[in-house]
Amino acid sequence: MTRLNSANVELAKEIIGRYPRSRSATIPLLHLSQEQNGYVTREAMAHIAELVGTTAAEVYGAATFYEMFKFEPIGKYCVNICQSISCHLLGADELIHHAESVLGVKPGGTTADGMFTLEAVECMAACTEAPAVQVNYRHRFRVATEHFDQLIADLRAGKLADEIPAHGTLARVRQHIPADRAAGNVDPDKPVAPAWMEAAQ
Ligand code: FES
Repeated sequence: MTRLNSANVELAKEIIGRYPRSRSATIPLLHLSQEQNGYVTREAMAHIAELVGTTAAEVYGAATFYEMFKFEPIGKYCVNICQSISCHLLGADELIHHAESVLGVKPGGTTADGMFTLEAVECMAACTEAPAVQVNYRHRFRVATEHFDQLIADLRAGKLADEIPAHGTLARVRQHIPADRAAGNVDPDKPVAPAWMEAAQ
């Protein structure tokens, strides 16, 4: 299934209800579609456009701005190894070669069992903790080869399932906003002054 399924349509409607403007829900719905299918399909983008009242082209334009959205199947766990200068100086090349050996794929490749996609990436803003690795965008710091082996073993064994959800999605816990705090009480085109400002007047 490549459009959002019925359960996710219901969730999508709840998410859309959090925003004064429906299209503001585009990014959360893209995460939802990636969580459902493992990547963002064209059909899902068209479906999201229907749901938020915009065009598939606009959804595509938003999605392609962000590296964490994938448009073709990738591994359950995307393993990014930083190859920029700090990490390079502290062993990133060795780590990448080690990862290639352990996983049996080159950067850009996905293991045959669909578990891992290996990427050699640019700086991930953890330069003081080099060499840095991310798994589905969760950092791991100062990763030596033995740490990498343990990380892969733990992922294979499902030991990190609570911390690292599949396919790079951001949310681990569903957010539920009480109805009395949902969007819609304030017209976004008629902003009201915040309480602190009113108190100062
Ligand atoms: S150089 Fe690797 S995280 Fe910045």
